[in-house]
Amino acid sequence: MRKPFVAGNWKMHGSKASILSLVTGLNAQANQLGDVDVAVCPPAIYVDYAKRTISSEAIAVGAQNMAVEPVQGAFTGEVSVEMLKDFDCEYVILGHSERRAIFGETDAEIAQKVKVALTNNVTPILCVGETLEERESGVMESVIATQLDAVLDVVGIDAFSSVVIAYEPVWAIGTGVTASPAQAQEVHAFIRGKLAGLNSAVAEKVIIQYGGSVKPDNAKELFGQADIDGGLIGGASLNADDFIAICKAAG
Ligand code: 13P
Repeated sequence: MRKPFVAGNWKMHGSKASILSLVTGLNAQANQLGDVDVAVCPPAIYVDYAKRTISSEAIAVGAQNMAVEPVQGAFTGEVSVEMLKDFDCEYVILGHSERRAIFGETDAEIAQKVKVALTNNVTPILCVGETLEERESGVMESVIATQLDAVLDVVGIDAFSSVVIAYEPVWAIGTGVTASPAQAQEVHAFIRGKLAGLNSAVAEKVIIQYGGSVKPDNAKELFGQADIDGGLIGGASLNADDFIAICKAAG
């Protein structure tokens, strides 16, 4: 049995005041979470603040990105994996579609970042997903396969037992349009099947989150699908009640 995992991607939102208010709400309800792994991923500058204000051991902290260079050096503006570890970040989101589309991150860079994270025992949350155009033109599976292959080529299938995959259809992110449970399950099954072709034990173990307009009212049905093991939550993770309700739906 895979233990469900729900992570909140706060994106570039928040202030000390709003984060304190959010975390206070999470702390108050953390004892209701049940059998689910939970993490929140604040903007890098607030990772330490979140870590210090979260009082529940049931809520881990992760980052939203990190440098491809593994050690410190002359890379203005970057945050290294060692710095994440220094602040007890257990997870790092890599290859989010916003990083791919807005900041031009390539499959090759993302694959290197996954390798750097794994080498340093930080769990990568590897995001994959197709645009609406790709889905409608029938290349959805090949797009996702290419995104996965880039990482598989660099780290190998065995390493995927320590990778979390997040399937995030780009058209469902921040749009209020959620993939239907059947649409999401189809892609999750495709991803797991692809990994199973390489190593069935790893495929059986790997956590595959769904992300894209998950809300308290659609979470249970999505998480009830056979190959959906929790979610990567954007907007709804900024509201303590909504995020806790989504975590409970996975547990
Ligand atoms: P929303 O939940 O706001 O659609 O965002 C999903 C996402 O991009 C999480 O990484």
